[in-house]
Amino acid sequence: MPLLTRRNLLKASAVAGAYGVGIGIAGKFGLAEAAPEPQVLKALKTQATLTDAGVTKNIMTWADAQGGAAMPPVLRMTKGKPYAARLTNTLDEPTTIHWHGLRIPNKMDGVPFMTQPYVYTGDSFDYAFTPPDAGTFWYHPHCNTLAQMGQGMTGVIVVDDPADPTFDSEVVLNLRDWRLGGDGQFIAAFRPRDAAKTGTYGTVRTANWHQEPQYDAPAGGLIRLRIAVTDVTRIFSLKMEGAEATVIAIDGNPVPKRFPLDLLLIGPGQRLDLAVRMPDSEGAVATLEDIRGTTPKTIAKLRSVGTSLKRNVGDLAALAENPVAKADLSSAEKISVVLSATAENAPVDSICGTLGYSFWAINKVPWPGDTSDPTAPLSELKLGKSYILQLENVTPHTHPIHLHGMSFTVLSSSTREVMPLVTDTYLVQPDEKVQLAFVADNLGDWLLHCHIIEHQKTGMTSYVRVV
Ligand code: C2O
Ligand code: CU
Repeated sequence: MPLLTRRNLLKASAVAGAYGVGIGIAGKFGLAEAAPEPQVLKALKTQATLTDAGVTKNIMTWADAQGGAAMPPVLRMTKGKPYAARLTNTLDEPTTIHWHGLRIPNKMDGVPFMTQPYVYTGDSFDYAFTPPDAGTFWYHPHCNTLAQMGQGMTGVIVVDDPADPTFDSEVVLNLRDWRLGGDGQFIAAFRPRDAAKTGTYGTVRTANWHQEPQYDAPAGGLIRLRIAVTDVTRIFSLKMEGAEATVIAIDGNPVPKRFPLDLLLIGPGQRLDLAVRMPDSEGAVATLEDIRGTTPKTIAKLRSVGTSLKRNVGDLAALAENPVAKADLSSAEKISVVLSATAENAPVDSICGTLGYSFWAINKVPWPGDTSDPTAPLSELKLGKSYILQLENVTPHTHPIHLHGMSFTVLSSSTREVMPLVTDTYLVQPDEKVQLAFVADNLGDWLLHCHIIEHQKTGMTSYVRVV
């Protein structure tokens, strides 16, 4: 695998910069900046080699203008700079793109019916927005998601902050599984009895569509390792063997205080930014591992090359905080959100796919699916007001709960010490009650759902309306 140096990175961002053509000084004066040329994202079916069994057919992905029918491209954006993408759908079913974690206008959020029409076969949709926050984010369809995401459509977004501290190299990891049989072909996407529990696990684990890939990085250097868990089901417990790894950001936002990586739980939809101090000796290998379950699994490896740069993680400047409004806790209104199982049967047929079951509910209401006539919002919020979600998990399972369009701050938990993390996805443990505060500063209807896609699609979805 190629050596990812600062120089190569700069080259890559020069290419990405081509999308920035047309950005003038207007922004400095508060005028709207000219929209850049859209990045082409063509949704298509392809095939790829994921296992020794040979080529896997019926993979879904987006190809960029260069056409490479492989893993969805890592999209690079710049904080505060306009970005545009044109989705062209050549799949034989409708699709959309949701920009997970980006606080952008509602009509760009990619949720069929709620924020935009389906993008049918042969049609296009233009997305254009300015990402307000720097960090690691990701993108995926919001239509027939168990199939489209399960078969490949999960990609990483890096939003750069030109003021970020300098690393010696950067590695981006898109972590996901595939449900393949021994012949390397897709098997049933889920089992109902598992959907009613943890969700159905994949059979083949990959990082960047490879099993246990190894990347070269400068010996003794500081590597920014950006990890996105884009799997539809799997929760990871991450650990680094053979190198010092420091957590610098979670879900795109800098952590209030850096800490060493040690069995950190990261669920579907979440991201983790690590500063990895590479070993000094040439050829030494550091291994990112998943310790959840019985035997540790290797996710990816980093190999030291060259003579040691002798860097020190303590020298790394802090990441700038993202401009997320702080909730006013004295006036904040409380909204109770109870995650539970349900016996009520709700699913309705939807063009974006139904799994045909309802197992889960939010405040006792199982989400029926994407329809033109959804259930009432969980709550109607006033623009600019502060709110506290009192989230309670009365199920024996862990749920990564994701809010679209706004980021919240974790205030407290009934079961553990929490940092005041700013995030869009909280991994709520069995029997945990947690308080999440935010300012309703983005107009529109915003989904709140579990990011274990089988849970989302069998009832654990709701939405808030900001007016
Ligand atoms: Cu990644 Cu509705 O979410
Ligand atoms: Cu869940």
